[in-house]
Amino acid sequence: MQYRKFGKDGKNVSALGFGAMRLPTKGKESAVDEPATVEMIRYAIDHGVNYVDTAYVYHGGNSEVVVGKALENGYREKVFLATKLPIFLVEKADDFDRFLDEQLHRLQTAHIDFYLLHCLQAPYWPKMQELGVCDWAERAQADGRIGQFGFSFHDSYDVFRQIVDAYDWSFCQIQYNLVNEEVQAGTAGLKYAAGKGLPVVVMEPLFGGTLANPPQPVWEIWQESEYRPADVALRWLWDKPEVSLVLSGMTTLEQVKQNIESACRSGVDLLDDEERELVRRVRDKYRELSPIPCTKCGYCLPCPNGVNIPLNFELYNSVTLFKGNTRPLCRNLYHGLPASERAQACEECGTCEERCPQHLEIGKLLKSVAEEFV
Ligand SMILES: NC(=O)c1ccc[n+]([C@@H]2O[C@H](COP(=O)([O-])OP(=O)(O)OC[C@H]3O[C@@H](n4cnc5c(N)ncnc54)[C@H](OP(=O)(O)O)[C@@H]3O)[C@@H](O)[C@H]2O)c1
Ligand code: SF4
Ligand code: SF4
Repeated sequence: MQYRKFGKDGKNVSALGFGAMRLPTKGKESAVDEPATVEMIRYAIDHGVNYVDTAYVYHGGNSEVVVGKALENGYREKVFLATKLPIFLVEKADDFDRFLDEQLHRLQTAHIDFYLLHCLQAPYWPKMQELGVCDWAERAQADGRIGQFGFSFHDSYDVFRQIVDAYDWSFCQIQYNLVNEEVQAGTAGLKYAAGKGLPVVVMEPLFGGTLANPPQPVWEIWQESEYRPADVALRWLWDKPEVSLVLSGMTTLEQVKQNIESACRSGVDLLDDEERELVRRVRDKYRELSPIPCTKCGYCLPCPNGVNIPLNFELYNSVTLFKGNTRPLCRNLYHGLPASERAQACEECGTCEERCPQHLEIGKLLKSVAEEFV
């Protein structure tokens, strides 16, 4: 396993972290297959993985419970354990302690090494500040219930910068992969955070698995080479010095073995020219296949109503391109946007269309986006 220095106290964290959001199940999402999960997590730890990430809401609460079981028999001491406060369920300041204490109980531990505000987006941040979440976290650090305090993020680059600058965070977690360089925090956010010395944990490195199971025209590109898509997509992330840790949500033991093997061969600036060219072609093909040919140039902005035009197109493209597999994620992201930024706030005034270098019929296209998500 490769390890990277993480944060101010220079913890040695494995390049690959175990994400416990897509565990094997027996039918229902909440029915986690406990023996298979315990075997996978322990195999990963026995082969050098020392970071496990879960959350209050994963698998209807059972991810934390089963992770707790996997970490029995001495495994807890071998890993950094991360979980997240479900800020979208918080109503009052007392809820902070209530959730954390329940999580400690589920995970059978007295201490969470890395504690995150889950899915921080513009609408939640002011409320969390009002409720004093950062002061509360410092008290929980002082009494030993949590260690490093950070946030996981799903909003625009501008919001990301505001949140990064608003507090002395220990780390952050962003969605990032080879087709999401300009989505959410994106490459700009990765570099911004790392430039400020903030460790960046990457989630959805395979875009929830869709990059490993691409549309036919993208498959054809991969098939011209000897490479596996998941392997290259993961090593493309580890190639970057700004990435501190890549979380993969592995669902089978075979995937755990493969991804550990990829992590062992990973390193900064290690992709060869053929691999870089392959990534470039794959990314170009995804762009070409996107139903709305928006280049995200931003010339159409600002919209007088506040509609975030490129982001709405990005979400729509993602659902279509990945045959609906990303629909739940994109739907959540759409509804997490302030109402004024959503496609349905468009009044078809036409102002933006005059400015679009691609001559897109923006008003009409936003209607399709609204139909998809509303
Ligand atoms: N807001 C948040 O805080 C947030 C949001 C998202 C994720 N996360 C965290 O980040 C972790 C990683 O995100 P993610 O689960 O979306 O990761 P991901 O790596 O993008 O997707 C995981 C999926 O990729 C596929 N996969 C993994 N390894 C593979 C391999 N070697 N070959 C082929 N397919 C492979 C599997 O899909 P199949 O089922 O198709 O096999 C697996 O379920 C999560 O588990 C969670 O802990 C946090
Ligand atoms: S057409 Fe819609 S998106 Fe474009 S400027 Fe007018 S209201 Fe905004
Ligand atoms: S101007 Fe056109 S291409 Fe550029 S971001 Fe707006 S819709 Fe997309």
